[in-house]
Amino acid sequence: MPERILITGARVVDPASGRDTSADVLVEGGRIAEVGSVAAPRGATVLDADGLVAAPGLVDVHAHLREPGREDEETIETGGRAAAMGGYTAVAAMANTDPVADNAAVIEEVRTRAARVGICDVFPVGAITRGLAGEEMAAIGEMAEMGVRLFSDDGRSVPSTRTLRNALSYARAFDAVIAEHCEDASLVEGAQMHEGYASFTLGLAASPAEAEEIVAFRDLALARLTGGRLHLCHLSAAGSIELVRRAKAAGMRVTAEVTPHHLAFTDDHLTSYDTNFKVNPPLRTAEDRDALRSGLADGTIDVVATDHAPHAVEEKDAEFDQAPPGTIGLETALAAVLTDLVEPGAITLRRAIDAMSTAPARLLGAQDHGGPIEPGRAANLVVFDPSAEWVVEPPFASKSRNSAFLGSTLRGRVVHTLYRGQLVVADGKAQR
Ligand code: DOR
Ligand code: ZN
Repeated sequence: MPERILITGARVVDPASGRDTSADVLVEGGRIAEVGSVAAPRGATVLDADGLVAAPGLVDVHAHLREPGREDEETIETGGRAAAMGGYTAVAAMANTDPVADNAAVIEEVRTRAARVGICDVFPVGAITRGLAGEEMAAIGEMAEMGVRLFSDDGRSVPSTRTLRNALSYARAFDAVIAEHCEDASLVEGAQMHEGYASFTLGLAASPAEAEEIVAFRDLALARLTGGRLHLCHLSAAGSIELVRRAKAAGMRVTAEVTPHHLAFTDDHLTSYDTNFKVNPPLRTAEDRDALRSGLADGTIDVVATDHAPHAVEEKDAEFDQAPPGTIGLETALAAVLTDLVEPGAITLRRAIDAMSTAPARLLGAQDHGGPIEPGRAANLVVFDPSAEWVVEPPFASKSRNSAFLGSTLRGRVVHTLYRGQLVVADGKAQR
């Protein structure tokens, strides 16, 4: 269906081309046809974007869509819809499903289901080890040959240093990326939160920032040894940021991510015993949060990723030590970054779009995403109102409601999402 959409008068923020000017964007047949001053062609749907920002569609390198296996918590359809509502046009789906995405058949199945839903591009992440068991390597070559770019045992670190070394070396041949969840298993065993003043007052078992730093250090050493591409997931500790900063200064090809919840909250929020603040890695101190913010500002941290982790109401509604870790994030990520970082001036809007779209698209090898917003490119776009205030509350497009941002007032709201030239979200409402 040849649909023509004209977005008029938007502030076009496009880190890939460096553009930050007011312009009209014409979309035709799934692609960007014209950018500049454009007269509405006959039959075009005109979207008045005066006062709104148009940017390349957001890209999440870290989401748990739970399908196959936990369709009661999320599906590719509901998670995809949550992504679109949050302005995302591409999402990497983590491998800790049931069955685990450790072979070509599961990857193929996730892709098929995602294509059927057709609300955003889904890039399945392959597991590093078979069954996420941390021992034998998964079928990395087979999956990489299908175009899988990211490999991760997210939820835990790869415990065997030798296995991780082999995976980094092997993945290198495919220019694939090993994405590590950095937590020393023996130090985090039984831990409910960050170890520090707050955990002492709450009397909860805790794990120190060193649990992350130790693994980040080991992984960086292995990346140096092998020349393999390493990506460090959801960093939470100031010390880890410093390690990445030094590795980058030494010229290593390492990338790092941070989540909106680690940028927004600290372990002080756990005094309410609200299980929505129970996440892995845990929320840490204000100093750690500030180090994450400056790491994002100076480019030590490349991307903001949601770690969207839906959990069933009855599971999160448990005693703190029984509840699984995780917060949903796809529907709030952009607003959280705008509210907590852009608005107070910690980062520019352009840096925010870079970290949420351009940089993650590059990391994923998602060539149709992340800009530039130029004629001929696939029309994957988000249009948002940077000043609209809203309170985070159900209903969510996600099947789950375990949001750490529940009750927060955020500024910035997605108005339209265009996925391959189709309005999948229009006026803040999902269209499919
Ligand atoms: O909070 C988290 N939840 N962190 C992880 O690493 C895994 C995730 C999940 O799968 O629920
Ligand atoms: Zn993780």
